[in-house]
Amino acid sequence: MLKLLITRPIAEPVLDQARTLFDVTIHDGGALSSQDCALALAKYDAILPTLGDEFSAAAFAGDMRCKILGNFGVGYNHIDAKAAATAGVIVTNTPDVLTDATADVALTLLLATARRAGEGERMVRDGRWGGFGPKNLLGTHVTGKTLGIIGMGRIGQAIAARGHFGFGMDVVFHNRSPKQTEVPARQLGSLHDVMKAADFVVVATPGGAETTKLINSEALAQMKPSAIFINISRGEVVDEEALIDALEEGRIAGAGLDVYEKEPFVPPRLLALENCVLLPHLGSATVETRQAMGQMALDNIIAWSEDRDPPQRVN
Ligand code: GLV
Repeated sequence: MLKLLITRPIAEPVLDQARTLFDVTIHDGGALSSQDCALALAKYDAILPTLGDEFSAAAFAGDMRCKILGNFGVGYNHIDAKAAATAGVIVTNTPDVLTDATADVALTLLLATARRAGEGERMVRDGRWGGFGPKNLLGTHVTGKTLGIIGMGRIGQAIAARGHFGFGMDVVFHNRSPKQTEVPARQLGSLHDVMKAADFVVVATPGGAETTKLINSEALAQMKPSAIFINISRGEVVDEEALIDALEEGRIAGAGLDVYEKEPFVPPRLLALENCVLLPHLGSATVETRQAMGQMALDNIIAWSEDRDPPQRVN
């Protein structure tokens, strides 16, 4: 039987199926370091890894038994896919199945930040709420505002649909290549044009070298002081220090974040900001979505094991 390493416990029905087909080992000890990854690549025929596992170039430099990384997650910036290809390792991901769940979290953050839900929740739980008041916790109106999306892939378009159909928002976007969208939305000339025009900026680009610190202090400086910044993509896309500076100095009105530069570390300066809603990277975290992601990752590995092309191959 082929040896399969699954680097975190995943949905039971997927594990049950995996056990019928492979000699399965489940790693239950958190993210794998680059060294752990190198050892795993030498020991297993196939690996089902996820975010945080450091499949860096160094991990692919040693002995290689593994032939496929069926990544659990659409983002695979934790895997050096080029180094994998050079070492003869196929990499696959899990697109589509998490699009709606992730777009829902973008809207969760947008609404929660605009309507000060985090502050309100803390007030109620702390026993600080003194009752209804016409001027209590006034937030920002969402309906009819301008939604600026950075990265108009599948998830960006699902966010656009929610903004347009759900909240009557005017949608503008930045994308590195020209994009026709089904949802009414205008592609503006530059990233800065979108940052300038939007009442809500939502980052939905992939991570990786091409987008690292795409949102820097110059980009943030384009935003209106009343605007709110949302990131559901990867922490590294944003210069976190620059974002915190902008928030502390009141140059933007708030931020809703699901991702951070050095997860699970969240800078104390960010934790201290009342105008931020901070989630622990749960964009795809629904029972249904996480099961579908596990199934897709496993299906790719099964395809490889049966000499078929893994459908979600990325390298
Ligand atoms: C989650 O962030 C993913 O990339 O699937």
